[in-house]
Amino acid sequence: MTLFRLAAAAALALPLLASAAEAQQTTLRVFTGGQQRPDVMRKILDLYQQRNPNVKAEVEVGGATSDVQQQYLNTVLSARDSVLDIILIDVIRPAQWAAQQWAEPLDTYLGAERNAVMARYLPAYRDANIIDGKVIALPYFADAQFLYFRKDLLEKHKLQPPKNWEELITTAQTVLKGEGNANLRGFETAGAPIEGTVCTFLVPMWGAGGNLTDGQGRLQLDAAAAKKPFELWTQMKQANVLPPNIAEVVTDRMRLNFQAGNLLFAMQWGYAWNRFQNDADTQVKDKVAVVPLPSFAGGQPATCIGGWQVAVSAFGKNKAEAVKLARFLSSPEVSKMQAILASHLPVFAEVYDDAEVLQANPWFAQARPVVLTARSRPISPRYNEVSDIIRSNMNAFLAGTRTSDQALSDMNQRLARVMR
Ligand code: GLC
Repeated sequence: MTLFRLAAAAALALPLLASAAEAQQTTLRVFTGGQQRPDVMRKILDLYQQRNPNVKAEVEVGGATSDVQQQYLNTVLSARDSVLDIILIDVIRPAQWAAQQWAEPLDTYLGAERNAVMARYLPAYRDANIIDGKVIALPYFADAQFLYFRKDLLEKHKLQPPKNWEELITTAQTVLKGEGNANLRGFETAGAPIEGTVCTFLVPMWGAGGNLTDGQGRLQLDAAAAKKPFELWTQMKQANVLPPNIAEVVTDRMRLNFQAGNLLFAMQWGYAWNRFQNDADTQVKDKVAVVPLPSFAGGQPATCIGGWQVAVSAFGKNKAEAVKLARFLSSPEVSKMQAILASHLPVFAEVYDDAEVLQANPWFAQARPVVLTARSRPISPRYNEVSDIIRSNMNAFLAGTRTSDQALSDMNQRLARVMR
């Protein structure tokens, strides 16, 4: 065949091939929360589309907080709507999703590889996604709460990072006094009635040696440790370290306050680091350090385990293609991309040791043991209600409309019904 005829044949074949690919194109719609970096998801999906021209992946962005996203998803999924193919879900949700049969169990799709695939993840994420023996979702990124602080300000005032809450209060008071800046706040944690506020209750309770339930599943809210969160936040408010409007603070507002240079200490999740270093409007680039949360003097620090999972909707129309994409989203390659582009903590042990990951996030070296020892919020198919009871009571206390006794007795009564 002459060159000319070859070229002519190729020219004829190309449009045919292109239209054949178009004809077979599958569109997959991926749902992610606003705080989980939809822009980074887009980059990851672009890469997938390049490698898989038969797939077009769209991103749908939900609300900013985990609870708001779930409210919307409750509506969509209760209607068995097929609009979403892949959904990012919070680590607290697999039990509810399994009970409602909203997620397509992935065992059959993973087939003989199932156990080997699941064994690659950090154990807490492998376990969180297997409910009653079924793989409900695949881990996307890990998370925990850390103490973020302004290392420039601590250095300026010749202070060490606090190891316990008592030190944090006095350190914050010294810096606030020394700076004399009316816009500078001492410490923030989530206080609005959102999911993160569940941890504003649990973390100090765990830190004081308490547990929500005992080995038999009986509530432990009468124990002294259950009072500790109320005592700690009251002490901080009285010391003018916790701002008066803490009951209005949502996670991403705290991130914005810190990013604007108006916050000294924050109990915050992993994603904030990347924004502090890279956002166009950051005032705190290279001025931030991230360490484990403080303990109580003589005690052990505690933190909530967090993170996001990739679920395949039980109602999607292209489940086989969706599972392929889900496996890509849950791969070491994507875990590394997320770590570098969004400071999303890896769900694979080896990604923590990657040189480029550590260069973007020097604190990840100390983060792995924190993730490995982070504790789980209650696992329940009725987690929505469990969460609502805890966070609304913590919020009412922080707002000054309920005493700690009232909040604890309301939690006790209502949780006893839900957590049976
Ligand atoms: C982070 C965590 C998630 C948690 C949420 C609460 O996104 O990864 O697990 O529920 O914060 O605000």
